[in-house]
Amino acid sequence: MTKATSRSASRPLDGKVVAVTGGAGDLGRSIICRLENAGAVVVGCDITEGQRMEHCDVTDRASVDRFVRGVLERHGSLHAMVAGAGVVERSAAIDLDAASWSRVIGINLTGAFHAAQAAARAMDGSGGSIVFIGSWIGVAPARDLMSYCVSKAGIDMLAKSMALELAPRGIRVNVVAPGVVEAGVSAQIFQEAPERRRAMEQVIPIGRLCQPEEISSCVEFLLSEQASYVTGATLVVDGGIRLAHAGG
Ligand SMILES: NC(=O)c1ccc[n+]([C@@H]2O[C@H](COP(=O)([O-])OP(=O)(O)OC[C@H]3O[C@@H](n4cnc5c(N)ncnc54)[C@H](O)[C@@H]3O)[C@@H](O)[C@H]2O)c1
Repeated sequence: MTKATSRSASRPLDGKVVAVTGGAGDLGRSIICRLENAGAVVVGCDITEGQRMEHCDVTDRASVDRFVRGVLERHGSLHAMVAGAGVVERSAAIDLDAASWSRVIGINLTGAFHAAQAAARAMDGSGGSIVFIGSWIGVAPARDLMSYCVSKAGIDMLAKSMALELAPRGIRVNVVAPGVVEAGVSAQIFQEAPERRRAMEQVIPIGRLCQPEEISSCVEFLLSEQASYVTGATLVVDGGIRLAHAGG
């Protein structure tokens, strides 16, 4: 094969229009970059400012609908949604304040529902794919993170329920559930407390934290034709930590 031929070879997401919520975050940026390299036209949104980022608050249904409508108007179709917006708030379960509970569930779970349903409605009958960003602590609980764990456990059932009902429309719905990634709040904690990083690395069977690219490659896989028969699945990408650390 000549160089020119290999350069023009088709890429896994050529011609696909993909929306990403939480696009200004560490994982969001990595996912956008990965999907663009795979050939997709990617439109990111976030509640905070970011380079080439649309404004959208996932807790506000009208804001999500506006974002999706804008993608359709500008690009003609929407083939995939990656629901990645998320927050963490820490508290012991006994002290957890109701407003904090509602905030975390509102962004992580209700916000993901808004994004996925708006996207599914916008997919024009030619099928599509939705990927939620869950968490390994949606599978096993962790101390002082009850609202987050419940929101991410909810994501797994949201994906399964939507997968069941949307399969006849050709829409696949899956979850990528990261372990401890060098991104977002985790990265901040480990920068401030290197001893916690070392302790965590000792617990993770693979022996190191996850890099954002190791999550975005799995998102690309689930969006691509390589995963054409995968729906209602949670792909846990955690270096095996759930096997060693149940109970947080
Ligand atoms: N970093 C990790 O170790 C880790 C592990 C498991 C799962 N996750 C999940 O991955 C996703 C991305 O996390 P990250 O580590 O990149 O964190 P991050 O804080 O860098 O990114 C999260 C993004 O979500 C955005 N966001 C918050 N509220 C929003 C709202 N109402 N509307 C729209 N956007 C909103 C934030 O502005 C931010 O840009 C989250 O869902 C998180 O729960 C992260």
